[in-house]
Amino acid sequence: MAYLSWHDRYLLGHPALDAQHRKLFELVSHFDDVVQMDMPEELGRILDDLLLCAIEHFRYEEELMEQARHPGRLEHRRMHQELIQQLKEMTARMKEGGYLSMKSFVRFLVDWLTNHIMREDVELRPYFGTKLE
Ligand SMILES: [Fe+2]
Ligand SMILES: [Fe+2]
Repeated sequence: MAYLSWHDRYLLGHPALDAQHRKLFELVSHFDDVVQMDMPEELGRILDDLLLCAIEHFRYEEELMEQARHPGRLEHRRMHQELIQQLKEMTARMKEGGYLSMKSFVRFLVDWLTNHIMREDVELRPYFGTKLE
C-alpha cells in the first residue's frame, strides 16, 4: 500500500538531512508493508531501526541548529524528545503484547514523520538549505 511515499516537497536542500529524512520515510513505509503482511517478529526489528535512526537524525539536526544558533532550537529539541518518548512507549506496548491497533500505530508514525518535517523542519531551509520552489 502506497501509504507513505517520499516527495520532493519534503526536501530541505541539505543533502545529509534530506538523506536521513528519506531513510526515515523508507523505514515507516517498510513498517506499513510488514503490518500488511502480518509479520510480528519483523515489526520489532524495524521499530528498533526506526528508533535508532530517529535518535541519530535528531541529534545531527539539533547539532546543526546549535551551530547556527537557530532561535527555535530549544523548542525544536523538546519536540524531538517528545517524539522519541512516544515512539518508545508505543514500541514497548507492542513488544509487551499489549493491545495496540497496528493501523493506528502506522497512522501515528506517518503523521509523526510528515507533520514534523512539513511543519517544523521546513523552517530550517533558510539556515541549512536552499529555498525550493
Ligand atoms: Fe526536526
Ligand atoms: Fe528532521
